[in-house]
Amino acid sequence: MKKTAKAHSNIALVKYWGKGDEKLRLPVNSSAAIALDNLTTTTTVEFQENLTADQVDLVGEGFEVGEVEKVSKHLDRVRLLAGITTKAKVVSQNSFPKAAGMASSASGFAALSAAAAAAAGLQLSEKELSILARQGSGSASRSVPGGVSVWHAGTSNETSYAEQIEYPKDWDIRVLLVMAEDTSAKKVGSTEGMALATTSPYFQIAVREAEANIKKLQASMGAGDWRAFGKVVEDECFRLHTLCMTETPNILYWRGVTVEVFQKLLSLRERGVMAFFTVDAGPHVHVVCQGKDVTRVKAELEQLGGIKTIIECGIGEGARLVEQHLF
Ligand code: PMV
Repeated sequence: MKKTAKAHSNIALVKYWGKGDEKLRLPVNSSAAIALDNLTTTTTVEFQENLTADQVDLVGEGFEVGEVEKVSKHLDRVRLLAGITTKAKVVSQNSFPKAAGMASSASGFAALSAAAAAAAGLQLSEKELSILARQGSGSASRSVPGGVSVWHAGTSNETSYAEQIEYPKDWDIRVLLVMAEDTSAKKVGSTEGMALATTSPYFQIAVREAEANIKKLQASMGAGDWRAFGKVVEDECFRLHTLCMTETPNILYWRGVTVEVFQKLLSLRERGVMAFFTVDAGPHVHVVCQGKDVTRVKAELEQLGGIKTIIECGIGEGARLVEQHLF
C-alpha cells in the first residue's frame, strides 16, 4: 500500500531545549508552537517485499548518510508497531531548500510518521501519531496536530505528546520568516546543542521558567492579550539563547542581522506596531504579527541589509494523508 502525507514545519513559542530521556526523546519541559502553512514536507512511503534495505530519497537534494539512518530507524519503530519486517521506499520533498538552514526535521518526521504508519496498515490516533513522530524528532510531535499546539512533556512514552490549543481567531496570526543571508557560522544542530543544555549554570532555572511561560502563554491567549502573548514569545527566545550562550562549549546562533531585526521591531513597537520576534537554533528570525500589520512590518524589514528573503506564513494544518504520490 502506497501512502503520502503532508506536514508543516513549526516555530516554537515556548522552546524545547534539553531531554530528560535521550532514547525516548522526553523533553525536560513542555513547549508550544505554531505550525507554518508555507513550510511543507510531502512524503510518500511504500513497504516493498523485494527490497533488501530501505530506499530513501529527498527530491532535488538527496539525504546524507546520517539522515538516511535516522529515517530507517524511524521506519523500524513503525515496523515494530505493525509487526512487519518489510523494507520501504521513501521519497520526500520540502517546499523550502534544506540548504537554507531551516529546520526540516519537524515537518519531515511528522510527514514520515503519518505516511509510514498508514502504508504499514496502522490506524493511529492523532495522539499516537504525535508520540511516534516525537521519537524521530521532538519538535515533530507538534507538527502532527498543527495549528497552535502544546507538547506536554509527560513522564513516559505514552504521556509525552502534542495537541492543539485554542487561540483568539481574531488575532489573525502571521509569521514572517526572515531568512539571514549569512549562515557561514559553524552550524551546531539542535540535537547536539541541546545535549549540552545541562552544562549551563542556568539550566534548572530555565526549565522552571519554561513551565511558567506555558501557563503565561495560555493565560494571555485566554484573555486575548496580544501584548502579553508577545512578551512571553520574546522572553522564550532569550531563555533559549541564554542557555545556548552559557553552555560549554558556548553556542552563538545569531548573526548581526538577527539583532538588527530585533531592533527594527523594537523601533516599530515604539510607533505602535505590535510585532514580536523569536529565533530557533539558527540565525533566522521568525516575526509573529497580525494580518493587519504584515505589509508595514515587511516594508520596514526590507530596508535592512543582510536578508535573503522573507517568507510569509499563516497557521498550518496538522499532518494528513493526501492523494498525490511522489512515485
Ligand atoms: O526536535 P528538534 O531537533 O527539531 O529541536 C527543536 C529545537 C528548537 O527548534 C530550537 C526549539 C523548539 O522547541 O522547536
